[in-house]
Amino acid sequence: MQWLFKYCRSSIGSKVLMAVTGLMLFGFVVGHMLGNLQIFIGQEAVNNYAATLKEMGALLWLARIGLILAVLVHISAAIRLTRGNQKARPITYAHSGTVQATYASRTMMKSGLIVLAFVIYHLLHLTFGVILPEAHSATDSLGRPDVYSMTVLGFQNVLVSLSYIAAMLLLGFHLSHGVSSLFQSLGLNHPRYNPIIQKIGPSAALVIVLGNISMPIAVLLGLVSLPAGAAS
Ligand code: HEM
Repeated sequence: MQWLFKYCRSSIGSKVLMAVTGLMLFGFVVGHMLGNLQIFIGQEAVNNYAATLKEMGALLWLARIGLILAVLVHISAAIRLTRGNQKARPITYAHSGTVQATYASRTMMKSGLIVLAFVIYHLLHLTFGVILPEAHSATDSLGRPDVYSMTVLGFQNVLVSLSYIAAMLLLGFHLSHGVSSLFQSLGLNHPRYNPIIQKIGPSAALVIVLGNISMPIAVLLGLVSLPAGAAS
């Protein structure tokens, strides 16, 4: 058991833990986006989806606990790796412009922390209803939480929409490097496939950014609006 603990704290072990938890979080982001995109189908689809998730009860809580653990392990591995790198190279370069590293790769810690701040803000907004609380208690004609109207009302606020769009761009930045580098951390790289692997991260990030920003933009443009009869 001790060898496992030692491995997890090693540089290679930390990289593998980061990759595995990063993959779990990426899976959540993809699934969450696909569920949310039902906003384009309408109120019934979104509210039904949200109610179905809540009906999963213990299974939903298991997934939530898994996600929270993944976030904690991902952050602690990132801190361990950053500290390890600083110890290995205590003197900073006179020219910090490293040739190979992209801007996204050099700012992973910063973009990751901003994404974390966004998730806290997002939970306060849509899960706990602390931001715009008047929209949070709404229910639909079937008495279910009206997640559709709550989301649309939120995005009708220009500042809320702009903050989501900015956070999604940073998330895209984080994913564009993170997704490509997880292949390397898991030993799934090969000189022949590396050029393709390098493109997977930015492509996946682009899909996530476009999918997520399409929602606030559609609401701001009036393409997605409150159902007839709902107060705006
Ligand atoms: C435009 C983009 C997004 C929309 C419209 C959206 C919408 C929502 C909604 C409506 C909820 C509450 C669901 C409910 O209580 O029934 C929610 C919860 C949540 N969202 Fe998002 N979201 C977006 C992007 C994101 C992103 C990018 C992340 C992560 C990086 C994220 C992480 C979460 C988490 C962790 C929860 C709590 C899930 C739970 O309670 O189990 N969301 N989101």
